[in-house]
Amino acid sequence: MQLPATAKMSSAIAAVRLNNAGGSKAMPVIGFGTASFPWGDRPDVTRSAILHAIELGYRHFDTASLYLSEEPLGEAIADALRSGLIGSRDDLFVTSKLWCTDTSSPDLVLPALRKSLQKLQLDYLDLYLIHWPIAMNPTKDYSDQPKWELFPIDLVSVWKAMEECHALGLTKSIGVSNFTCKKLEALLDFAKIPPAINQVEVNPVWQQKKLREFCVAKGIQICAYSPLGASGSYWGSNWVMECDVLLEIAKNKGKTIAQICLRWLLEQGDCMVVKSFNEKRMKENLDIFDWELTEEEKQKISQIPQRKGHPALEFVSEDGPYKTVQELWDGEI
Ligand SMILES: NC(=O)c1ccc[n+]([C@@H]2O[C@H](COP(=O)([O-])OP(=O)(O)OC[C@H]3O[C@@H](n4cnc5c(N)ncnc54)[C@H](OP(=O)(O)O)[C@@H]3O)[C@@H](O)[C@H]2O)c1
Repeated sequence: MQLPATAKMSSAIAAVRLNNAGGSKAMPVIGFGTASFPWGDRPDVTRSAILHAIELGYRHFDTASLYLSEEPLGEAIADALRSGLIGSRDDLFVTSKLWCTDTSSPDLVLPALRKSLQKLQLDYLDLYLIHWPIAMNPTKDYSDQPKWELFPIDLVSVWKAMEECHALGLTKSIGVSNFTCKKLEALLDFAKIPPAINQVEVNPVWQQKKLREFCVAKGIQICAYSPLGASGSYWGSNWVMECDVLLEIAKNKGKTIAQICLRWLLEQGDCMVVKSFNEKRMKENLDIFDWELTEEEKQKISQIPQRKGHPALEFVSEDGPYKTVQELWDGEI
């Protein structure tokens, strides 16, 4: 069994050290996802789910300026501090992401981070990610737009601005999301600080073996999003939660399909962010540390036919930098 190098955290959840975090705290392998659609809908539900997650022992929280969950997350953290549920902000690992309107110019990166920090009521982030390798016109109100206005990202200057955010101590680590091997290769060519994380879709139905091998070789930690296939979301499907192979393994083991998915990720050394605002499922998703998958079970999972749940067609356009899905994913899907 291959578990990630662990370090002691304030909660029982194992944690990994990131390549550009210096002496900062390690990242708990399970993070609590806060994306729910419509974005920003029912902030009270989000806030109380986060507070409950802290009670249950989650210490890593994943937000983004897109999700409009930074404010409820900030309020939940402030509540947890006031009530003594956590001793200090340092007990938590908080990730946020730079949205595509703010990748359209390097000058927008630092103000975007400051705005996120203000919403979160924090002095620093633990991790700041470029959300997608693309830029959007920042002057447009996208709630009114039937179609996004898309541009190529100037990765050299935007990454330099990310490195400046890191140097200022406003984020302890920096990384990317939705990057292919090819895009990571390009970034590594000029980055003074290599990305700590690539946050991408990974689950038993979209295993990303080639990308994992590349990231392991380069010291970039994979953080899996949609680890359960994002059932019930417009960007997800039921392919994972209704997979026969996973169902059979789960039944034989007395576990749930969700637990099989999360344990599988853990054993191959990935971090993960999983979203549930349901108390029972939030608990269930943490209960993956004191049992193992057998070699035979892992072998069966490795044979599951592959298909990507979230091809992100919204970033593909005749007028944009990616004219086909293959171009967006560099032929890696
Ligand atoms: N970087 C990116 O581009 C990107 C993209 C997508 C997501 N993310 C991040 O990753 C997080 C997680 O991914 P996700 O939300 O897409 O998908 P996910 O965690 O794979 O799935 C969430 C769905 O599964 C349900 N669920 C959770 N635990 C369950 C369990 N034990 N049994 C049955 N159903 C369960 C949830 O419903 P209930 O809430 O009702 O339990 C929700 O409908 C997001 O919240 C976000 O923070 C990042």
